[in-house]
Amino acid sequence: MSASFPVARPRRLRRTPALRRLVAETRLAPADLVLPMFVKEGIGEPNPVSSMPGVYQHTRDSLRKAAHEAAEAGVGGIMLFGIPAVKDGTGVAADDPDGIVQVALRDLHSDIGDAIVLMADLCLCEYTDHGHCGIVTPAGEVDNDATLERYAAIAGAQAAAGAAVVAPSGMMDGQVGAIRAALDRAGHPETSVLAYSAKYASAFYGPFREAAEGAPQFGDRSTHQQDPANADESLREVLLDLDEGADMVMVKPAGAYLDVVRRVRDAVDVPVAAYQVSGEFAMIEAAAEKGWLDRERAINESLIAIRRAGADIILTYWAVEVARSLQAAN
Ligand code: PBG
Ligand code: ZN
Repeated sequence: MSASFPVARPRRLRRTPALRRLVAETRLAPADLVLPMFVKEGIGEPNPVSSMPGVYQHTRDSLRKAAHEAAEAGVGGIMLFGIPAVKDGTGVAADDPDGIVQVALRDLHSDIGDAIVLMADLCLCEYTDHGHCGIVTPAGEVDNDATLERYAAIAGAQAAAGAAVVAPSGMMDGQVGAIRAALDRAGHPETSVLAYSAKYASAFYGPFREAAEGAPQFGDRSTHQQDPANADESLREVLLDLDEGADMVMVKPAGAYLDVVRRVRDAVDVPVAAYQVSGEFAMIEAAAEKGWLDRERAINESLIAIRRAGADIILTYWAVEVARSLQAAN
């Protein structure tokens, strides 16, 4: 064996932190991160979510403060979820101009509306007493087309309250088209639609159900959310949503669906978002609490992997913490 063997030595570029930083193919930036936030009507103090350490159901006031901190940290956007004081069969609070999300959107719009992109999750599961994402028939099924009328009304209310982006997450067929038409009709042609296009029926939403109080009271979501076995189907969902007028598309969850993120990224020319969901967050937090994982390293690795798979925008409950550490490193 000659003294110079092997000729190719990839380790040369891994020798020092400076070299590794220079040749890194993928980077995270605060502006690409979106923080999901919860605001609850009628509570006096922020309410910690037990399965999501550091995550709160906010009061109107504590939401303003936390959103301000997110903007300060350079986070690119907020995805807002509301929990009304009273739920009913059709989720009337969802499109009430004085409903919790609309009120909170107006607060945030006047506080920081120009500094951060205000996004509103658009669904009914937090607002209905049965916890389903739409109108339920007497037979207990989610009625697709009746639900679209509700989504259209919610979109108008959220846009009027100051949402720059509405994000339909209910996986009803035709939801993006119905919402786009409603926004245009109501005089909001400037409001964007971020479609939760490829959203799977996932066990990783578990902790979110506590945070948003939107667990289905019977049945599940597998008649509308996608089967985890399928990936081609995601492309079909994405293309349909773009056809209906989506400005951006999302894959959700992120970590277990990185192949889908990559395929969507390669197939379309709009921004692709990926949602690192509550269960992905809780797994790392819980293992770190037990001392089984290095928390910061696991968080960073989970996020860089989502980026490497092709996500332009990442929704993550760690957005503020990670944005701050990115800012500090610069
Ligand atoms: C509701 C909605 C869910 C999530 C976002 N919007 C839950 C669900 O579909 O059951 C999950 C977010 C998370 O787990 O972090 N349509
Ligand atoms: Zn829903």
